[in-house]
Amino acid sequence: MKVDGPLSPLWVLVLTVLMGVSAGAQEEENPFADQEIEFTSADTLLGLVDSRASMSLNGPWRVIVDPMGVGHPGSFFGGFPRNKKASSGMELIEYDFSTAQQLRVPGDFNSQDDRLFFYQGGIWYFRTFESEQLNDTKLHLWFGAANFDAQIYLNGEPLGRHTGGYVPFSFEITDKVRSGTNELMVRIDNSLSATSVPTKRTDWWPYGGLTRDVLLVETPQNYIRNAKIALIDRDSKTIRVDIWAVGFDAGTSAKVSLPELDVTQNLVLDENGNGTAVFTAPVDLWSTDSPRLYDIVIEAGKERLEERVGFRTIETKGQAILLNGEEIKLKGISTHEEPIGDAGVAYSDEHALGLLSAAKDLGANFVRAAHYPYSRHMAKAADELGLLLWAEIPVYWNIDWENESTLSEARNMMGRLVERDWNRSSVIIWSVANETPYSEPRMAFLRTLIDDTRALDSTRLVSAALLGGSREKFAEIITHLAARGLANGGLGPKETAIFQGILKQAGDAAPTASGSVDVVIDDPLAELVDIVAYNEYFGWYYSALFADETGIGEDVLRPLMMDFMKDITIKAKVDKPIHISEFGAGAKYGRKGGEVLIWTEEYQAEVYRAQIEMLRASPQVQGMTPWILKDFRAMLRPLAGVQDYYNRKGLMDENGNRKLAFDVLNTFYAEEW
Ligand code: GCU
Repeated sequence: MKVDGPLSPLWVLVLTVLMGVSAGAQEEENPFADQEIEFTSADTLLGLVDSRASMSLNGPWRVIVDPMGVGHPGSFFGGFPRNKKASSGMELIEYDFSTAQQLRVPGDFNSQDDRLFFYQGGIWYFRTFESEQLNDTKLHLWFGAANFDAQIYLNGEPLGRHTGGYVPFSFEITDKVRSGTNELMVRIDNSLSATSVPTKRTDWWPYGGLTRDVLLVETPQNYIRNAKIALIDRDSKTIRVDIWAVGFDAGTSAKVSLPELDVTQNLVLDENGNGTAVFTAPVDLWSTDSPRLYDIVIEAGKERLEERVGFRTIETKGQAILLNGEEIKLKGISTHEEPIGDAGVAYSDEHALGLLSAAKDLGANFVRAAHYPYSRHMAKAADELGLLLWAEIPVYWNIDWENESTLSEARNMMGRLVERDWNRSSVIIWSVANETPYSEPRMAFLRTLIDDTRALDSTRLVSAALLGGSREKFAEIITHLAARGLANGGLGPKETAIFQGILKQAGDAAPTASGSVDVVIDDPLAELVDIVAYNEYFGWYYSALFADETGIGEDVLRPLMMDFMKDITIKAKVDKPIHISEFGAGAKYGRKGGEVLIWTEEYQAEVYRAQIEMLRASPQVQGMTPWILKDFRAMLRPLAGVQDYYNRKGLMDENGNRKLAFDVLNTFYAEEW
């Protein structure tokens, strides 16, 4: 009796009984054990996907929720049967996609079914697709992203696995696809852990699923896998194009051209399929005021790819940031990848345009796409709109710095993000981390990521959002609040006694009521990055921390803090530009017109006014991306009636309704800074 593939545990059970093999003679198979399934890793990144021949696999897919991880083909509990089909009505099948519910791809599953709102676990996606006989071409199964672990089966056979969300991956399936109907099944698990990237605790929703486009991409037998295009000298308008190709013989000629300028440059591919062209062309520079884009055509053999790019330079000089050689202030805003007025993840060109248009309405020239790689549509839309972008991977808070698989997941994510978007003129900063506490293992981990990033792309800046607020700095600020509180008077006996005690403890260092403070960023990571980015929450979190430290009520401390912020100067130990990557405050849209209390729009607007006054007077600060454009889903934010599992620091609510602080920032961005 011949059985295709590994015996299912049930068969083993039956055979063992039939053959009367005693348990003692051999280890009995455990039908309930997890199976060891061999998957291949994803192929090296396939770039310029929108320039290639492809068939979309977007649309409704059948799904089966699988919290216990038993849906693998051949599983004792059923799984999707490798060859078993319902026919006579007597077949026992418990995993049958033909009757299962359907969810939209692309998109997360959390927002498409209320039962899945909080769900973190495995879900099987299934669809079929038709394929013709391939003639002298290659077929690639391409995913824009899958959050966060994808195990893929094609026609019942394990195909490949990719761990790590937010970035594209693909598998060549030329020899595995059959002409006619193919069955595609993907197990997606959006669970996070102490060793994943990000870890289990994030202040954004761990949306799971086939969150971005799924395509069947057809390439010639010999094809160009990726290409990198950059302006390497602004004065001479010198352009460098690097090509990575597959299958060509050494010495194959290739060609790069800018049809609009009638410029063509030939080059030769080496034995590895790589080639570089360096040439000049009279291009107009891309900038936020004039986002000039050109079509670049790259050809080799039967391959012909087009990429639409802008030519610009970005660099720092001392504490200044230079776009095309001229100083620029980054008047920005932070975002999460959620559409305005819709639930779940943003995945489309329209979603990206919606978010970026709102940033333009705010008067921004810069967007921090926090905290993970966005869909490819975002940077393409930013190129067209003339917005600068900060791109980031979710090395966020407590990462397992000493875990090799954690590091390789972060490196793979960063590499794919850079190789996907390195032709986007809008992207000026690659960020390797957000708010990661100092430690030597953290330094080693981030140093590796920074080295990787610079090796892949030396034409952009590298940064990381650093954690604000060291304890000793806070202690100094509290003494200033004490001096001002006592000078203002009107305090109760308890506050008076506490403030007097604080000043007494400060001794000779006790400040006057008109003192000021330099907050100096001293994280050693500042030595390794180009721009020192810094998250600080003066006017929001810190007042609560000060209250815990001193026993003084927030009703006393918040007004003192708001007044003191104009006397804080933010500096860095290194002579580099500072970018305030986050500041902000929460407000429930519509809570306004009454007493100015926390969660009111007025309080949020006051924090913005005080922050702007502080930051515009800190000469080393060259940019800001306040937190955040729009209220966003977060499991850390349950406060009923106010948050309801939204982080409410948005300048707009989830439907795009603007809060008072939107106008405060918009007014500032319209001014000279
Ligand atoms: C942190 C963090 C954000 C978070 C924000 C907040 O700095 O970087 O991811 O959402 O502050 O607390 O709202």
